[in-house]
Amino acid sequence: MTSIAEAGVAAAAQGHAVTLTTSDGERLEIACAPGQNVLEAAREAGAALPSSCRSGTCGSCHASVLDGGYELESYAAAALPEERRVRGEVLLCRTVPCGPLSVALPYESSRILYGGIPVREGVITALEEVARETVRLELRLEEDGEAGLDCQFEPGQFVELEVPGEEVKRAYSLANTGNWEGLLEFYIRLRPDGAFSGYLRERAQAGARLIVHGPQGAFGLRETGLRPRWFVAGGTGLAPLLSMVRHMAEWQEPHPARLFLGVNEEPDVFGLAELDAVADELPGFEYEVCVWRPGESWSGRSGTPADAVAAALSELGDIPDIYICGPPPMVDAVTRAVAGIVPEEHVFHERFLAT
Ligand SMILES: Cc1cc2nc3c(=O)[nH]c(=O)nc-3n(C[C@H](O)[C@H](O)[C@H](O)COP(=O)(O)OP(=O)(O)OC[C@H]3O[C@@H](n4cnc5c(N)ncnc54)[C@H](O)[C@@H]3O)c2cc1C
Ligand code: FES
Repeated sequence: MTSIAEAGVAAAAQGHAVTLTTSDGERLEIACAPGQNVLEAAREAGAALPSSCRSGTCGSCHASVLDGGYELESYAAAALPEERRVRGEVLLCRTVPCGPLSVALPYESSRILYGGIPVREGVITALEEVARETVRLELRLEEDGEAGLDCQFEPGQFVELEVPGEEVKRAYSLANTGNWEGLLEFYIRLRPDGAFSGYLRERAQAGARLIVHGPQGAFGLRETGLRPRWFVAGGTGLAPLLSMVRHMAEWQEPHPARLFLGVNEEPDVFGLAELDAVADELPGFEYEVCVWRPGESWSGRSGTPADAVAAALSELGDIPDIYICGPPPMVDAVTRAVAGIVPEEHVFHERFLAT
């Protein structure tokens, strides 16, 4: 059998040689045919890199060019902010090499799927409204040969859900933790006129089937010693962060942990029972809800999670690792609020962009 590396070397004869290096130092040599993007070339060589839309809108395939020339095909500005582009960050689904290229991947080699992205079927076991325009969706995977009900994934990862027979496939982060019961849990914000949102509003019900692509994605907990971990969520951006703190509770990880959940108004608040359950099990975990435009009866914190994090950082001794997830403006606001205090290499984020 031809190895990935051999396939890459053989193909290099016909295109531009590309070296991809993961954060744990694994090197992958591939070749890009003229006009081909790096994501596609890696997939052809048998390596599925974290990605979703493959069209420059979601930002899931971002990486940094270390050396070499390339062209960036058109992409959504929110998926690759200008200040990141000028620093050499790219979207691999839009990156076409002009010569030899060396790229740093911001994740470990375990996040590369060498057998391709797993595809399985799941059945809806629960669909309930948990806040305004926000639902909790639960799926149970169908038993699958040797895999059985194996549902292992890293906290922070997402799957793409596809409605059979309809051309609708969207990325959603997993809110639960890996398990052997085939269970997948999601929190989904229903968008006006959204295709998948419309399916959930109008047609989805218990017993309906969905096609599940994944788990995949690079977002996740990083091992950086016993630094405190702070989690900052905007709306359903809570999903992957809930998975992370649940994982910490299951493994009794000793890092002090703090979570900030930001919503626009009180009817948007959800997930409190789940966060209380984590607080009961995980010593040193606390959370705070920030309501941007509170009503008169709200007794908690008013304002954005970016304000809350900035205020908390000013009172702090140990500088934490920061995990941020939610809509791009909120992720960017928190990133700006912590810049200059928390080193960039300790700030990790997932932006919920259109897929
Ligand atoms: C890695 C990743 C993980 C994600 N995880 C979650 C999750 O756990 N929960 C969740 O609620 N969403 C999540 N999303 C967003 C999700 O994939 C869809 O984009 C979103 O649910 C809208 O899908 P739709 O089919 O209903 O709308 P579409 O038919 O795609 O779009 C309808 C309208 O809504 C706008 N729109 C679409 N997506 C967004 C967005 N994200 N923000 C603002 N406007 C948008 C479009 O511009 C369009 O005008 C994630 C996105 C990514 C990239
Ligand atoms: S996969 Fe490249 S931006 Fe979405």
